[in-house]
Amino acid sequence: MIIEPIRKRRSSRTYKSDPISDEFINEIIKAGQFAPSAMGRCAVEFVVIRDQKVKDAIFAVIDQDYIKTAPVLIAPVATDKSVLPVQDLSIVSEHIFLQATQLGLGSVWKNLNEQWEEKVKEILNIPSNFRMINIIPIGFPAEEKPEHGDEEFKVEKIHQEKW
Ligand SMILES: Cc1cc2nc3c(=O)[nH]c(=O)nc-3n(C[C@H](O)[C@H](O)[C@H](O)COP(=O)(O)O)c2cc1C
Repeated sequence: MIIEPIRKRRSSRTYKSDPISDEFINEIIKAGQFAPSAMGRCAVEFVVIRDQKVKDAIFAVIDQDYIKTAPVLIAPVATDKSVLPVQDLSIVSEHIFLQATQLGLGSVWKNLNEQWEEKVKEILNIPSNFRMINIIPIGFPAEEKPEHGDEEFKVEKIHQEKW
């Protein structure tokens, strides 16, 4: 049932140092590549970052410890083929979060503001007209968080027919 990884998915910001195999990263990115995309363009590509020097350079821009400490960073990038880059990147990201959860891995959406986006694209050699909206650290979570429960389901947020 897909609801299981949806319940279990939590934002992890602390990670064990255990390495993450290429197999796991490929499974995660495969899930990202199976996401729907505007006009079926499949225009999102990925930079996988394991090199501590690159992580440190990104940390110097973003100043969040988990950028340095996560064993792997995944940077989803919408190329100029994307007609709706923010939407394409968002749904790819959710597929990534769910597949990472399914593999017992933690992840988090680290948002990039416009300034950070430009700087991170420079660090990663990404063409300036391509888009990034986030960076996704991946690692085995160092702390357990409770899964989402039915008490979070708010029936009063559902409007029938009209608001
Ligand atoms: C659009 C978006 C932007 C987010 N930006 C950040 C961020 O910059 N840094 C961060 O640590 N978490 C970020 N998050 C994660 C949220 O803080 C997190 O999803 C929320 O607190 C709910 O917790 P959960 O993911 O454990 O269910 C972001 C999530 C979304 C969807």
